[in-house]
Amino acid sequence: MVEGTEVVRLDPGHPDIAAVRRAAGVIRGGGLVAFPTETVYGLGADGLSAAAVERIFLAKGRPQDNPLILHVAAPEDAHRVALDVSACARRLMERFWPGPLTLVLPKRPEVPDVVSAGLPTVGVRMPDNIIALTLIAESGVPIAAPSANVSGRPSPTSADHVIADLAGKIEMVLDGGPTTVGVESTVLDTTSTPPGVLRPGGVTVEELRDVLGEVSVLSAESAARLEGPVPSPGMKYTHYAPKTPVVLVEGEPDQVAGRILREIQARHATGETAGVMCSCETEGLYRGQADVVRVAGSRRDLATVAAALFATLRLFDADGVDVVFAEGFDQAGLGFAIMNRLRRASGGRIIRAHMGTGVDPG
Ligand code: TXA
Ligand code: MG
Repeated sequence: MVEGTEVVRLDPGHPDIAAVRRAAGVIRGGGLVAFPTETVYGLGADGLSAAAVERIFLAKGRPQDNPLILHVAAPEDAHRVALDVSACARRLMERFWPGPLTLVLPKRPEVPDVVSAGLPTVGVRMPDNIIALTLIAESGVPIAAPSANVSGRPSPTSADHVIADLAGKIEMVLDGGPTTVGVESTVLDTTSTPPGVLRPGGVTVEELRDVLGEVSVLSAESAARLEGPVPSPGMKYTHYAPKTPVVLVEGEPDQVAGRILREIQARHATGETAGVMCSCETEGLYRGQADVVRVAGSRRDLATVAAALFATLRLFDADGVDVVFAEGFDQAGLGFAIMNRLRRASGGRIIRAHMGTGVDPG
C-alpha cells in the first residue's frame, strides 16, 4: 500500500523537469501518478505492466470490464500499442493530436488484457498538456490512465479533486492547475465503417464529420442509458454524480427556468432545500428563489460550461442542499458532450419542460 500521497506543484507552461522525471520513475517502478491533461486529470500507470494497471482499478474501485485509454507522447508511438493505424486514423491524428480525441485501434498482443478489458482493441490518445507529454516521454512507456476520480464521481478537473478522491491510495499527484477543456476526450471507434463515436467529448461530432464525412453516433439519450449492451463499456455505469441527487431539466431555456422555479417551490413546500446549476444568462431568475445558485458558464460559449461542469457539480456536495436542478443545454457542438455528462450525472432523473410551462411574462 501507499505510505502517503506526494503532491508536486508544477508550472503548467514550464514544469520542473527534475520533478517530472521523479514521477516518471514512480511510473516505471509500477506506481500510480495522477497528472493533468487538457481534459481532466488522469490516474497513470505503466500501460504495459498488468500489475501496475491492476492497481488503477483497485484505487478507483473501477469495474474490471471497463477498458483504459493508453496515452502516448507522439503519434508514431501509437504503433507500439496498435497493430494497425489506418489511413483514416492517421488523418485524425494529424488534425486532432495532441488533443481530446481517443482513437480505438486494433490492439497489439503486448498490451495486457487488463488494459483493454479483454477487447481486441485499444483506446489511444496523445494529450495536449506539457506536463502529461513530458511525463509520458520520460517514462518511456505508454501510460494507461482513466480519469483520476473514485469510480462514479465527477471527473477531476483540479488536483484538489484528485486529492479529495484518492489521497493515500496513490503515490503522487502532479498539480498543473485546473484543466482547460473540462470534459473527457471523444472516444472514436476507427475499426468500424463508418467510424463511430462511442463517447462524446472535447472534439465535436461536427469537427469529426469535417474530416471523415460520415461518422455514426449514438444519440446522447441512448448513450446515457444505463442498461443494455453498449459499445463503449464505460458508458453503462452511473457516472459523474455528486452525492447530492441531480435532476436535469431539458427544453427551451425560458421554459426550463419556469419549470425549475416551480419544482423549487414544490420542494420548499415539503421542507426541502434546492440548488440550481444554470447559465449566466438565466442566473438572475433564480436569485432569491433557489437556496444555492451556481453558474456553470455561458450558453453563448459552451466551452465555458464544459470547463466548469464537473467542478460545479462537486461544489454542490459542500452546499448540503437536498437536490440540485440542472439546466439543460443546446446539443450542438460541445453541448452534446455536456448533455451526455448531465444525463448521466442525473442517473435518469430527467424532466422535459414543455410549451406553456415557461416563465409567466405577466
Ligand atoms: O480525456 C480523457 O479521455 C481522460 C484523460 C485522463 O485522458 N481519460 C478518461 O478515461 O476519461 P476513462 O477511463 O475515465 O474513460 C475511458 C473511456 C471509457 O468510456 C471506456 O469504456 C472507453 O474510453 N474505452 C477505452 N478503451 C476502449 C476500447 N478499446 N473500446 C471501446 N471503448 C473504450
Ligand atoms: Mg472516467
